[in-house]
Amino acid sequence: MKILIVGSGGREHALGWKLKQSPVVSAIISAPGNPGLAELGRTVAIKVDQPGELAAFAMREQVDLVVIGPEVAAAAGLADSLAKVNVPCFGPSQAAAELESSKAFMKEFCGRHGIPTAEYKVFDDAIRAKAYLGGREPPFVIKADGLAAGKGVVIAETRRDADAAIDEVLFLKKFGTAGQRIVIEDFLPGEEASFFALCDGETAVPLQAAQDHKRAYDGDKGPNTGGMGAYSPAPVFSDVVRDQTMERIILPTLAGMRAEGRPFVGVLFAGLMISADGPKLIEFNVRFGDPECQTLMRRLKSDLAPVLLAAAKGELKNAPALEWDARPAVTIVYAAQGYPDEPLTGSVIRGLDAASKVTEVVIFHAGTRQDEDGTLRASGGRVLNITATGDTLREAVVRAYAAVDAIDWPGGFCRRDIAWRALG
Ligand code: AMP
Ligand code: GLY
Repeated sequence: MKILIVGSGGREHALGWKLKQSPVVSAIISAPGNPGLAELGRTVAIKVDQPGELAAFAMREQVDLVVIGPEVAAAAGLADSLAKVNVPCFGPSQAAAELESSKAFMKEFCGRHGIPTAEYKVFDDAIRAKAYLGGREPPFVIKADGLAAGKGVVIAETRRDADAAIDEVLFLKKFGTAGQRIVIEDFLPGEEASFFALCDGETAVPLQAAQDHKRAYDGDKGPNTGGMGAYSPAPVFSDVVRDQTMERIILPTLAGMRAEGRPFVGVLFAGLMISADGPKLIEFNVRFGDPECQTLMRRLKSDLAPVLLAAAKGELKNAPALEWDARPAVTIVYAAQGYPDEPLTGSVIRGLDAASKVTEVVIFHAGTRQDEDGTLRASGGRVLNITATGDTLREAVVRAYAAVDAIDWPGGFCRRDIAWRALG
């Protein structure tokens, strides 16, 4: 198989790393890719939000499967463009991607299909939104409706912070058109987990769960980010919780999306709050989590290529069960100083070779670029993903930080407490 991976982050590098090990894969191409993906095969300079160009390329190159990494590509209609030229695609149509690209759609969908999630109200008017908060108790959960790269959510402890958040989204347009509407919802207590299922429109195959750290700084403090580190398995996600999640959330969603004429193909990512009465849905994403995917790829033993192709072709029912390493994996995100607000790019990174030699460590590139002379530089917010496995989570974490310490990058920072909850 010749596979085109769309995206340029650590998630896509991890998918490419895993797919490259498949005996049925002959070539990995990535668009636009990154220096890590470039070590696995060709990269082409087409952006993820150019579905027409990507589809034309995939057809011309006779690609056997396109794997969509980021939600932006799905929301731009890449799967729809590929369907027109008969190229198999692992990833949702534009209509199915609304589960992530519109929080209002997702909330209304959950209401129609009895999927457990927080009570909510949608507003496009700041005065009404603030008035609504008047009769409520903190913390207040305020979200921009559209895609905001994980940064469009504010949990406000006071009315003043809540009002400021409403103004930032609706008046100051901090998230542009993604913030034309806001969703205000009830605060859900509990512990968070990310759960993933492969879907072909009809059948869902459960993957594993992971836990992510969304806040920028140690102790889960600071602004929300796309994710600063992850580990899998997630201790909070027992087999009972997994079965409840499949029965109450994943399967009704798959059936509901089919019934509404938007069959869901790709990976359905349920962001969950695990409470005493079971899992509640915080959000859906229509793609692998980043950096959760990196930990899952380190634990997946089965060949990924045939199962993604089966999902793309509606043939998951017959796919063999996936095998997982029971041992834990962890990902540390090494980010550029200033992330998430204003990451400083261009700083030089050294020492990756030495860091990669730490036992059971694999480093994925997320936001790097390479000069002609081979110098590696930061080019984004989240720059490197240091992953490790071990017999215990503690061993994996120690290995990952040993690799972090072997990297010479004054322009970067990372959290030092990834997996603290699970380590106790
Ligand atoms: P989202 O982008 O919707 O996943 O929200 C980002 C983060 O905000 C989540 O990962 C949670 O930590 C937190 N969050 C979102 N909604 C809620 C809620 N209703 N109750 C508690 N925490 C929430
Ligand atoms: N790490 C959370 C996400 O990918 O949305």
